[in-house]
Amino acid sequence: MPGVGAATAQIMIVGEAPGANEDLQGHPFVGAAGKLLDNLLAKIGLGRQDVFVTNVLKCRPPMNRDPMPNEAEACLPYLRRQFAIVRPAAVLILGRHALERMLPGVGSISRVHGQIFMRSDVAFMPCYHPAAALHNGALLADLERDFERVREYLDRLFPQPEPEPEPAPAAAAEPASPSEQLPLI
Ligand code: URA
Repeated sequence: MPGVGAATAQIMIVGEAPGANEDLQGHPFVGAAGKLLDNLLAKIGLGRQDVFVTNVLKCRPPMNRDPMPNEAEACLPYLRRQFAIVRPAAVLILGRHALERMLPGVGSISRVHGQIFMRSDVAFMPCYHPAAALHNGALLADLERDFERVREYLDRLFPQPEPEPEPAPAAAAEPASPSEQLPLI
């Protein structure tokens, strides 16, 4: 399951590995963790159309066990190539396995989640994995705060244009002379 999203997406989301549902459907994050991911994205005004979603591992590990280091190594060239094609401005790293592969040595997910690591002008933002928050509800508030940080960063990076001021109400205009009237047909 390689990943899904627009090659022009500014945001890349990298999880751990496809699960059973993802393998069957060929889409990342389609199970319960995927629903939570969609909710978290919606809360910060984003949808799947705005992001490219993939995983460190491109295949489901047997019995859904944790990825082995050699499996992640084997898939990394694929992820690097995806990264080079999409060229995202921000990368959300979901969970400790993706963190260990993408930002080795920065610290544990419980210590660095919600922080921004700039690498070659790209913001790497580790967050708890949505599945972790499904297992341990106490992490949900942290995860929501991590996503709010992502929103704040995106707002700084892509400031919304100021809304156009409302036009002043037009003074009651004189009826146009016949020569100024626009023909309807
Ligand atoms: N968990 C992941 O890390 N990736 C998926 O695609 C689904 C669940």
